Amino acid sequence: MPRSIEPGKRGEVFTLRQNAAVAYPADNEQMASNARLLAEYLHQDAGFVVEPKADAGKTAAITLSLGLKSDNPEAYRITVSKRGVAIQGATEEGVFRGVQTLRKAIGTEAGEQVELPYVTIDDQPRFGYRGVHFDTSRHFFPVDFIKTYIDLMALHGCNQFHWHITDDQGWRFEVKSMPELAIKGSVREKTVLGCNTGLYDYRPYGGYYTQDECREIVAYAAKRFINIIPEIDLPGHMQGALHVYPELGCTGGPYEVWPIWGISEDVLCAGNPATLDFLKRVYDELCDVFPSKLINIGGDESPRVRWQQCPKCQAKMKELGLTREAQLQTYINKELDKYLSARGRTIIGWDEILDGGLSENTIVLSWRGTKGGIEAARQHHRVIMAPTDYCYIDYYQLRRDSERLYAIGGYVPLSKVYSLEPIPAELSEEESKYILGPQVNLWTEYIAFPDHAMYMLLPRLDAISEVQWTPKEQKNFDAFTVRLERMEKLYDKLGYKYCAKWE
Ligand code: ACM
Ligand code: ZN
Repeated sequence: MPRSIEPGKRGEVFTLRQNAAVAYPADNEQMASNARLLAEYLHQDAGFVVEPKADAGKTAAITLSLGLKSDNPEAYRITVSKRGVAIQGATEEGVFRGVQTLRKAIGTEAGEQVELPYVTIDDQPRFGYRGVHFDTSRHFFPVDFIKTYIDLMALHGCNQFHWHITDDQGWRFEVKSMPELAIKGSVREKTVLGCNTGLYDYRPYGGYYTQDECREIVAYAAKRFINIIPEIDLPGHMQGALHVYPELGCTGGPYEVWPIWGISEDVLCAGNPATLDFLKRVYDELCDVFPSKLINIGGDESPRVRWQQCPKCQAKMKELGLTREAQLQTYINKELDKYLSARGRTIIGWDEILDGGLSENTIVLSWRGTKGGIEAARQHHRVIMAPTDYCYIDYYQLRRDSERLYAIGGYVPLSKVYSLEPIPAELSEEESKYILGPQVNLWTEYIAFPDHAMYMLLPRLDAISEVQWTPKEQKNFDAFTVRLERMEKLYDKLGYKYCAKWE
């Protein structure tokens, strides 16, 4: 829902005809790309043809331009008047957000021409960080689907793709200096059926992303003004790597790429200097492939039982004068913070990283409710909000048994996602500034196929997108569901699977 829509005089419309020109400033590749993408969208959504033309001047029916004055780089203005349709952005990114709005306004049924009522739309997002997470470790999803995922994000104005690319059940990022990591670490010998039933399929399951593929995805996302934040989860959720390098675990293994779900007690050994060497090599290549300023180091669900019993870990604690195992995790995080900061990167971690104390520049991803986020903001650390009760879209969305069968967690219906207020009431105005924005998370223990992932996303992605974008005073669930019906037509047209009922 755009921030401000000022209708023109009743009944006055601009008629956009097939083969209309889309003008953009010459010598601006991002604006050319915006024009091409607009053409692509209108064609796929509505079979409507428009033609990008550099510097087409006043004759063009649609004009993309820069120069809108705003403090918000994503601000844009759409004007429809007798002169045609103009999208003016504060930056190229703002223009791209405006392109999505125009596309949604035109919809699916344009025909030979489409009548657009005169209007001025002034818009900008509420939050600068508008995240969507995807777990491609528990199940592997092909590159084409990752691109579709990015398309869905672009349609909804999201701008940060949090890519969970390694975990206990499979290491899916190619590291060229350690090729076996992906080759062997991505393959589990079998997968448990259902929710840790003890029954298995006894069929190897694997798949990983080459660095070339990752770069291709980064470029695809960048055209859509979406940043990709890769996550190598550590020190827990590491059985994929431990299978290949058992010497990095406290017990020395052997370890299997995990065939079940849950929290493994086997984690990286914090007392072995080889662990940090390993991580630095991984992050070197990760930074090489992903230009994102933000890098996620995970940090969730990392039990400390092995560390309690490991002579190396205990010696390290003594050496550093630490009294609690949680501080060992902070020690690793601080080392990585230093290492990545020197490369111009900022680390993000799940809220467990608060336990042993935060390293200096860390951003906290609050998932176990909002408590961690509140605590971090009070410590003047930046925060991303993804509390399970509102943002875990692997949880089921309808109260029925068939839904529960394929979901681990609780019940997160559309209305619940929509009702999220990302800034906790407990925070002062000053502290609230540390809340960067909200994010939804899609874990895939029970989601093995693209259509199913899309079904979990849609329409809850619509709900979070308004939480991310629209000022809270403007939010209204009933009005939202009316807009949603239009979105469903688009999903039908594009072959996107979605949950057609909502609660
Ligand atoms: C998480 O859901 N384990 C961050
Ligand atoms: Zn150890």
